[in-house]
Amino acid sequence: MTMTTYHLKKEYGTHDCLIVPLFQEKGLKQFAKQVVNTPLATLVREVWKTKDFEGTAMQTSLLYTEDAHIPRVLLVGLGKKKLLTIGSWKKTIGSAIAVSQSKKCGKIGVVISNEVIKHFGAKVAGRESTIAVATAGYAYDEHKTDPDARVTPLTQVDFVSDTDVPTAKAWTVGMREGEVIADGVNLIRHLGNTPPQTMIPSYLAEQAKKLAEKNKKLRVTILSLAEIKKLGMGCFLGVAQGSQHEPKFVIMEYRGGKKSEKPTVFVGKGVTFDSGGLSIKPSTYLCNMKYDMLGAVTAIATVHTASLLGIKKNLIALAPTCENMPGSRAYHPDDILTNMEGFTVEIDNTDAEGRLLLCDALSYAKKFQPKEVIDFATLTGACMVAIGAERSGLFSPVDHLVKALQTSAQIVGESLWHLPLGQEYSESLKSQVADIRQTGEVGGRGFGGASTAAAFLQHFTLDRKSKEPAYDWAHIDMSSSFIQSGTKSWNRGGATGFGLQLAIEYLR
Ligand code: BES
Ligand code: MN
Ligand code: ZN
Repeated sequence: MTMTTYHLKKEYGTHDCLIVPLFQEKGLKQFAKQVVNTPLATLVREVWKTKDFEGTAMQTSLLYTEDAHIPRVLLVGLGKKKLLTIGSWKKTIGSAIAVSQSKKCGKIGVVISNEVIKHFGAKVAGRESTIAVATAGYAYDEHKTDPDARVTPLTQVDFVSDTDVPTAKAWTVGMREGEVIADGVNLIRHLGNTPPQTMIPSYLAEQAKKLAEKNKKLRVTILSLAEIKKLGMGCFLGVAQGSQHEPKFVIMEYRGGKKSEKPTVFVGKGVTFDSGGLSIKPSTYLCNMKYDMLGAVTAIATVHTASLLGIKKNLIALAPTCENMPGSRAYHPDDILTNMEGFTVEIDNTDAEGRLLLCDALSYAKKFQPKEVIDFATLTGACMVAIGAERSGLFSPVDHLVKALQTSAQIVGESLWHLPLGQEYSESLKSQVADIRQTGEVGGRGFGGASTAAAFLQHFTLDRKSKEPAYDWAHIDMSSSFIQSGTKSWNRGGATGFGLQLAIEYLR
């Protein structure tokens, strides 16, 4: 990854491109005031006259200034002030960065008005603006052999603001946090984008180990096949057995809180490639299944990032990882698998593999007596059908957890939609031959598939004896927001890195 330096500056410096975000109401007048004695003034007046640019949301105008210090000015519209959210701010800044890079600009200035700082608060504005820039600047292009075809890396980003000293200080604190968070997001995206011939379970596990080598506050344990067998994780092993690659179970621990404090556990689905297994996917559905490990890296990167930020909590990431493949050793529909707590599961469809990895991890989590468990998984196509591509599904029987997670998501411009758990879904999982059935109906792709999958997971969050919840639990089905098409101006396609920002905000 390239290193970018971020600064807050009072004056315009030398930039390949100066990005100027402007509100619709104030528009160019506001900017013209700031540049009144510079060569930009005439230029700005001209654009104003033409009405080519009026500051409407996401509008852009690239101006060439004939000024060697700032050869390009990119005006971007913020729309109406009262409609500006963190989400829309980040998209706007993101698309401006992408436009600048497309002109091969690596040294960039971003004008930050006092209004924007007031609108979000200095620290939040500093943090979220930095995240917007750093995530927009990332591209997965290391396999492009023509250097000219690669995206111009950002080398230096100066936020230009004439704000007072205390505000500047708060901004800078936010900006430094933002750098760390953005690194976490880009790490998730990078691992997600890595092709599946490389991203095999042992490789994923090594990445977690590497993070711990550089960071003394983390402890990473990798459970091998033999250890997973010994623990009796029969559901996880059932999925893994069809692949030539051995499964791994990654445990990352960060003790930032008091010894006596119960940990928050993040669980993530780590299927490095989901072919569907014997219930093999049709060819078009096989595409993008390298991303089926994003839950696992989200959990791992969240704990890693939290430790770098020095968050005072005890955190654990649990990431079962394997590949789901067909073959003579693959598990079958009609198999009965035994979870590590002894629950038996009747298999209907080997493509509903994610819940099998997760059920063993959710059982394993009980050993930590967690305060709460939050799982991330690219679990069901049904979730995507239900809510489209820009939010994730949120399932939880715990109201305050739902509220807190939704609020956190909103603050960082991610979005969670609360979807139902309930009796009707749990009852559809009754089996004739085992304790529970894997999917709601034969074949598995019935109505309400995202909720049936969640209800299946819920079963393993209960105490085996009392049938009461063993811990507070929330499930995030990321199937609907894990990748982006690359057709929007603020992204380049590939993994989004969804989830880490809201998880960090939740912990903070
Ligand atoms: N990994 C998929 C879910 C998925 C599909 C995520 C597309 C993102 C994009 C999951 O393992 C799966 O195959 N789910 C099945 C479940 C069904 C067989 C009950 C599905 O959603 O079709
Ligand atoms: Mn599947
Ligand atoms: Zn899957």
